[in-house]
Amino acid sequence: MPLPKAELHLHIEGTLEPELAFALAERNGVELPYADTEALREAYRFSDLQSFLDLYYELMGVLHTARDFTELADAYLARAAAQGVRHAEIFFDPQAHTARGVPIGTVVEGLAAALDRAEERHGVSTRLIMCFLRDESAESAMATLEAAKPYLHRITGVGLDSAEVGHPPSKFREVYEAASALGLRKVAHAGEEGPPEYIREALDVLGVERVDHGLRCMEDAELVARLVRDRVPLTLCPLSNVRLRAIDVLEDHPLPAMLAAGLVATVNSDDPAYFGGYVGDNFAAVRGALGLGREQLRVLARNSFEAAFLDDEEGLRARYLAEVEAYEFEAGE
Ligand code: ADE
Ligand code: ZN
Repeated sequence: MPLPKAELHLHIEGTLEPELAFALAERNGVELPYADTEALREAYRFSDLQSFLDLYYELMGVLHTARDFTELADAYLARAAAQGVRHAEIFFDPQAHTARGVPIGTVVEGLAAALDRAEERHGVSTRLIMCFLRDESAESAMATLEAAKPYLHRITGVGLDSAEVGHPPSKFREVYEAASALGLRKVAHAGEEGPPEYIREALDVLGVERVDHGLRCMEDAELVARLVRDRVPLTLCPLSNVRLRAIDVLEDHPLPAMLAAGLVATVNSDDPAYFGGYVGDNFAAVRGALGLGREQLRVLARNSFEAAFLDDEEGLRARYLAEVEAYEFEAGE
């Protein structure tokens, strides 16, 4: 049994494996410009975030019906559960679908159908987080929040993703204020490719409770001290950072330094179909490349449940944390 953990940074569209992409393309009559899954996998060589996003948006064009989204999410939940995920907070990008004529209701209802069965089928509790595309306008983000209003009982929070540099968090001040007024939780990608200043803005202007990535905080000692003092969780994605060239090799990842500094670091998979692994693979990779010991892995698992948007009334957080404390590592793990 793998170490129990929560996954807090996972784009559901980034779990679209080549095999499912081809199956959905056929079912929906979509022509993909790749001969087969092998040829598609050949395209998974990225030079930066934008080069990945171009393929990510292209490939999600095979997702049309609620059933497609249900199958996508169910496939992710099965894989995640097999790697020890007990709780998953799942991002989705409504604008990437509404721009193609797929209504937000189709997306949310399709995902929700899979999430409704997740406890029973996979033993995983779930939340949905709706992300705004930061390279689209603030008006488009506000219109998306408005369009989501009939579905807010299914949505726990809002996030901010897509091309970071040139699109600072402050561009989305009003939409985050409106989301807050609706009782939604708040996160944002910041400091993946963008500077530490974007992390400060996400905290000060948007009022986020967690920072997605936050990798570049390490360039700013004062910011690190603040994140430690306020116990702001960072949702790190080590394999993503290597594939998108934020760092050269996994051995250079600042995760050990971040843990040593007292940051509330968590390990996540981001877009696992594209970056070479699900969350358990990310744990195994950092253990191997960075020499993390068992107690550090346990800290990462504990952090993931402490940072999760779980209601204390449910008692789930306490139950999961007890599972982490009781976990006995297997030989070689
Ligand atoms: N959308 C999907 N994956 C992303 C990432 N790593 N950064 C920003 N936007 C994304
Ligand atoms: Zn991400």
